[in-house]
Amino acid sequence: MINIQSLHKFYNRGKPNQVHALKGVSFRIAKGESVAVTGRSGSGKSTLLHVMGGIDGFDEGVVEIDGYNLSELKDHALAALRNEKIGIVLQDFALIPDYSAMENVMVPLYFSKHSARHRREKALLALEQMGMADLADKEVKDLSGGQKQRVAIARAMVNDPSYILADEPTGALDTQTAKEILGVLKSLNEKGITLVIVTHEKEVTHICRRVITLEDGVIINESERR
Ligand SMILES: Nc1ncnc2c1ncn2[C@@H]1O[C@H](COP(=O)(O)OP(=O)(O)O)[C@@H](O)[C@H]1O
Ligand SMILES: [Mg+2]
Repeated sequence: MINIQSLHKFYNRGKPNQVHALKGVSFRIAKGESVAVTGRSGSGKSTLLHVMGGIDGFDEGVVEIDGYNLSELKDHALAALRNEKIGIVLQDFALIPDYSAMENVMVPLYFSKHSARHRREKALLALEQMGMADLADKEVKDLSGGQKQRVAIARAMVNDPSYILADEPTGALDTQTAKEILGVLKSLNEKGITLVIVTHEKEVTHICRRVITLEDGVIINESERR
């Protein structure tokens, strides 16, 4: 369960260029749900995803992942929680271009206690699940957009996370490839992984059961499909 209560986040707090990016956001996401966070550019979607994923801090409120209060965790405990439970797919893939697909997927395994061989096996399995095993040794810069996104999802999946958080996962893809990637994300949710997608594209929200709409850092609408 993700529990967010009265969340506030500022950039450049107290400075002339202060931005109040999240203004008291509250919601819960139960295990197995699929939730789209939508809204215009600048509404605070990415900020919310980064805070939920523990890769960015916040100023006020509560953020809990499976009962762990993120603001009470020490850095190493937060890193461990993130590594264990959360797979993040960042905007524009955020892969290392000169590394192979395999090497990129192995990055989150860097701190694991397993042998190099076990790590390679896990990475290959994740790539296989994304239909990318044949391209495991190819450098990421030589892959297509859709292939890069599959590698990014494999990297997010490699530690068998409970949650996948994806920021504009189809933003850099053509329509057909976007459909494929959405199919991949949907199938992960059908396997029981809790899915949160941040997107400004209406069609993308259709693969999620719940839609949360942000405007200027505030939730202005919530809807649920049955
Ligand atoms: N690193 C940053 N420094 C200062 N302002 C930021 C930063 N990141 C985002 N913002 C501002 O916070 C607001 C929300 O941005 P963001 O979360 O990226 O929105 P979205 O993902 O919905 O487009 C915007 O006004 C944006 O300009
Ligand atoms: Mg964004």
